[in-house]
Amino acid sequence: MNNRRNFMKTSLVASAGIMAAVSTSMACPDQPKNIFAYSKDNEGRWKGKSGSHAPVIGTENSKITVETKHGMSERHYIVKHSIITAEGEVLGEHVFTKIDKKAISSYDIKGKHEKLYALSFCNLHDLWVTEFTI
Ligand SMILES: [Fe+2]
Repeated sequence: MNNRRNFMKTSLVASAGIMAAVSTSMACPDQPKNIFAYSKDNEGRWKGKSGSHAPVIGTENSKITVETKHGMSERHYIVKHSIITAEGEVLGEHVFTKIDKKAISSYDIKGKHEKLYALSFCNLHDLWVTEFTI
């Protein structure tokens, strides 16, 4: 039993190290710090999928609307939207369920921010980012 626990601990630590190395080596200048996400300009292994996965931003003063133009079904859906700063501070987030009809969320963002990022996570096609300002 102890051998199995030690193996699991070692595997988790090794996996975390690999993920950190991958995210560091894949970092792009137009991405929030310490986060890797695909974008309209960097579709990576999901070539052709940015139109249905990169978040679309609507702004009206401090009101932000984030939409992912993606279908919502039990098998394939948008899991979450987040709004974060360039430093990775989370200013807002919304978790969707399999019964939500659309992946649309709204936020009231206070303060002045030079750059903000909207993140959208698909259960099959990973994390996507769109940079914006308000
Ligand atoms: Fe998807």
